Amino acid sequence: MYEKLKKEVLAKLTEKRLNHTEGVRRTAARMCEIYGEDKEKVDLAVCFHDLYRGKQAEELDRLIDKYGIPERYKGNANLAHGKLAAAAMEQDYGITDEDVLSAVSFHTTGRAAMSTMEKIVFLADAIEPGRDYPGVDALRKMADESLDKACLMSLEGTIKFLEEQGVADIDSDTIEARDYLLETIK
Ligand SMILES: [Fe+2]
Ligand SMILES: [Fe+2]
Repeated sequence: MYEKLKKEVLAKLTEKRLNHTEGVRRTAARMCEIYGEDKEKVDLAVCFHDLYRGKQAEELDRLIDKYGIPERYKGNANLAHGKLAAAAMEQDYGITDEDVLSAVSFHTTGRAAMSTMEKIVFLADAIEPGRDYPGVDALRKMADESLDKACLMSLEGTIKFLEEQGVADIDSDTIEARDYLLETIK
Protein backbone atom coordinates (compact mmCIF):
# COMPACT_ATOMS: atom_id res chain seq x y z
CA MET A 1 0.00 0.00 0.00
CA TYR A 2 1.18 3.50 -0.84
CA GLU A 3 4.48 2.02 -2.11
CA LYS A 4 4.63 4.21 -5.22
CA LEU A 5 3.76 7.32 -3.26
CA LYS A 6 6.33 6.57 -0.55
CA LYS A 7 9.02 6.00 -3.17
CA GLU A 8 8.16 9.28 -4.83
CA VAL A 9 8.36 11.25 -1.62
CA LEU A 10 11.53 9.55 -0.32
CA ALA A 11 13.24 10.41 -3.62
CA LYS A 12 12.81 14.11 -2.78
CA LEU A 13 14.85 13.86 0.45
CA THR A 14 18.54 14.63 0.82
CA GLU A 15 20.78 11.72 1.83
CA LYS A 16 20.99 12.96 5.41
CA ARG A 17 17.21 13.35 5.69
CA LEU A 18 16.66 9.99 4.00
CA ASN A 19 18.92 8.23 6.52
CA HIS A 20 17.01 9.83 9.38
CA THR A 21 13.65 8.96 7.82
CA GLU A 22 14.68 5.32 7.28
CA GLY A 23 15.70 5.19 10.96
CA VAL A 24 12.33 6.59 11.99
CA ARG A 25 10.56 4.03 9.75
CA ARG A 26 12.33 1.10 11.39
CA THR A 27 11.79 2.46 14.90
CA ALA A 28 8.12 3.24 14.25
CA ALA A 29 7.50 -0.21 12.73
CA ARG A 30 8.81 -1.86 15.87
CA MET A 31 6.66 0.38 18.05
CA CYS A 32 3.61 -0.51 15.95
CA GLU A 33 4.20 -4.15 16.85
CA ILE A 34 4.51 -3.38 20.56
CA TYR A 35 1.50 -1.07 20.70
CA GLY A 36 -0.72 -2.61 18.01
CA GLU A 37 -0.88 0.30 15.59
CA ASP A 38 -1.40 0.24 11.82
CA LYS A 39 2.09 -0.12 10.30
CA GLU A 40 1.10 1.01 6.81
CA LYS A 41 -0.46 4.25 7.95
CA VAL A 42 2.34 5.03 10.37
CA ASP A 43 4.92 4.34 7.67
CA LEU A 44 3.14 6.68 5.27
CA ALA A 45 3.21 9.46 7.89
CA VAL A 46 6.90 8.85 8.60
CA CYS A 47 7.89 8.97 4.92
CA PHE A 48 6.33 12.43 4.62
CA HIS A 49 7.13 13.91 8.03
CA ASP A 50 10.35 15.77 7.14
CA LEU A 51 9.58 16.55 3.51
CA TYR A 52 10.18 20.26 4.19
CA ARG A 53 12.90 19.94 6.82
CA GLY A 54 16.03 21.87 5.90
CA LYS A 55 14.37 24.11 3.29
CA GLN A 56 15.23 27.79 3.07
CA ALA A 57 13.11 30.17 5.17
CA GLU A 58 11.91 32.06 2.08
CA GLU A 59 10.65 28.86 0.48
CA LEU A 60 8.87 27.82 3.66
CA ASP A 61 7.20 31.23 4.00
CA ARG A 62 6.05 31.04 0.38
CA LEU A 63 4.62 27.54 1.00
CA ILE A 64 2.88 28.78 4.14
CA ASP A 65 0.97 31.24 1.93
CA LYS A 66 0.35 28.61 -0.74
CA TYR A 67 -1.12 26.05 1.66
CA GLY A 68 -2.95 28.51 3.89
CA ILE A 69 -0.96 27.75 7.05
CA PRO A 70 -1.33 30.30 9.90
CA GLU A 71 1.02 33.29 9.65
CA ARG A 72 2.51 32.55 13.07
CA TYR A 73 4.53 29.73 11.52
CA LYS A 74 6.41 32.13 9.25
CA GLY A 75 10.08 32.41 10.14
CA ASN A 76 9.89 29.26 12.26
CA ALA A 77 11.18 26.38 10.18
CA ASN A 78 11.28 24.10 13.18
CA LEU A 79 7.53 24.32 13.65
CA ALA A 80 6.44 25.03 10.07
CA HIS A 81 7.93 21.96 8.38
CA GLY A 82 5.46 19.48 9.87
CA LYS A 83 2.45 21.68 9.17
CA LEU A 84 3.57 22.08 5.56
CA ALA A 85 4.17 18.36 5.06
CA ALA A 86 0.67 17.58 6.34
CA ALA A 87 -0.83 20.25 4.07
CA ALA A 88 1.02 18.89 1.04
CA MET A 89 -0.11 15.33 1.84
CA GLU A 90 -3.70 16.46 1.91
CA GLN A 91 -3.76 19.03 -0.88
CA ASP A 92 -1.24 17.56 -3.35
CA TYR A 93 -1.35 13.83 -2.65
CA GLY A 94 -5.00 13.39 -1.67
CA ILE A 95 -4.33 11.79 1.72
CA THR A 96 -7.44 12.27 3.84
CA ASP A 97 -6.78 10.10 6.91
CA GLU A 98 -6.97 12.58 9.82
CA ASP A 99 -4.81 10.47 12.10
CA VAL A 100 -2.02 10.26 9.52
CA LEU A 101 -2.23 14.00 8.79
CA SER A 102 -2.14 14.89 12.50
CA ALA A 103 0.81 12.58 13.15
CA VAL A 104 2.76 14.53 10.52
CA SER A 105 1.46 17.94 11.56
CA PHE A 106 2.32 17.51 15.25
CA HIS A 107 5.47 15.39 14.98
CA THR A 108 7.70 18.22 16.30
CA THR A 109 5.52 19.63 19.05
CA GLY A 110 3.16 16.89 20.11
CA ARG A 111 -0.24 18.08 21.36
CA ALA A 112 -2.79 17.32 24.06
CA ALA A 113 -4.63 14.01 23.74
CA MET A 114 -2.42 12.49 21.05
CA SER A 115 -3.57 9.29 19.39
CA THR A 116 -1.39 6.18 19.49
CA MET A 117 -0.30 6.92 15.92
CA GLU A 118 0.68 10.48 16.80
CA LYS A 119 2.65 9.29 19.81
CA ILE A 120 4.52 6.67 17.78
CA VAL A 121 5.56 9.14 15.06
CA PHE A 122 6.49 11.78 17.66
CA LEU A 123 8.65 9.33 19.62
CA ALA A 124 10.17 7.39 16.75
CA ASP A 125 11.38 10.72 15.36
CA ALA A 126 13.05 11.47 18.70
CA ILE A 127 14.71 8.09 19.29
CA GLU A 128 15.63 6.67 15.87
CA PRO A 129 19.14 5.14 15.86
CA GLY A 130 20.76 8.24 14.35
CA ARG A 131 19.72 10.42 17.29
CA ASP A 132 22.36 11.26 19.85
CA TYR A 133 21.65 13.60 22.74
CA PRO A 134 21.73 13.37 26.54
CA GLY A 135 18.98 11.08 27.79
CA VAL A 136 18.15 9.44 24.46
CA ASP A 137 18.99 5.93 25.70
CA ALA A 138 16.71 6.28 28.72
CA LEU A 139 14.00 7.52 26.36
CA ARG A 140 14.53 4.53 24.04
CA LYS A 141 14.13 2.19 27.00
CA MET A 142 10.99 3.93 28.18
CA ALA A 143 9.49 3.82 24.67
CA ASP A 144 9.48 0.02 24.92
CA GLU A 145 7.59 0.15 28.22
CA SER A 146 5.09 2.98 28.05
CA LEU A 147 4.14 5.22 25.16
CA ASP A 148 2.67 7.86 27.46
CA LYS A 149 5.57 7.95 29.89
CA ALA A 150 8.06 8.10 27.02
CA CYS A 151 6.16 10.97 25.38
CA LEU A 152 6.10 12.83 28.69
CA MET A 153 9.82 12.23 29.17
CA SER A 154 10.57 13.55 25.69
CA LEU A 155 8.33 16.62 26.09
CA GLU A 156 9.84 17.47 29.46
CA GLY A 157 13.32 17.14 27.99
CA THR A 158 12.41 19.43 25.09
CA ILE A 159 10.85 22.05 27.35
CA LYS A 160 13.86 22.01 29.67
CA PHE A 161 16.22 22.32 26.70
CA LEU A 162 14.26 25.24 25.22
CA GLU A 163 14.12 26.99 28.60
CA GLU A 164 17.88 26.59 28.98
CA GLN A 165 18.32 28.04 25.50
CA GLY A 166 16.30 31.05 26.61
CA VAL A 167 13.41 30.38 24.22
CA ALA A 168 10.62 32.49 25.68
CA ASP A 169 7.70 31.38 23.53
CA ILE A 170 7.64 27.59 23.67
CA ASP A 171 4.86 26.36 21.39
CA SER A 172 1.57 26.00 23.25
CA ASP A 173 0.98 22.55 21.72
CA THR A 174 4.12 21.28 23.46
CA ILE A 175 3.11 22.70 26.83
CA GLU A 176 -0.43 21.34 26.47
CA ALA A 177 0.90 17.93 25.43
CA ARG A 178 3.01 17.77 28.59
CA ASP A 179 0.23 19.02 30.88
CA TYR A 180 -2.25 16.54 29.42
CA LEU A 181 0.10 13.61 30.05
CA LEU A 182 0.93 14.82 33.55
CA GLU A 183 -2.77 14.73 34.32
CA THR A 184 -3.61 11.44 32.64
CA ILE A 185 -0.64 9.25 33.61
CA LYS A 186 -1.42 7.44 36.80
FE1 LIG B 1 10.74 17.01 11.70
FE1 LIG C 1 12.28 13.86 11.69
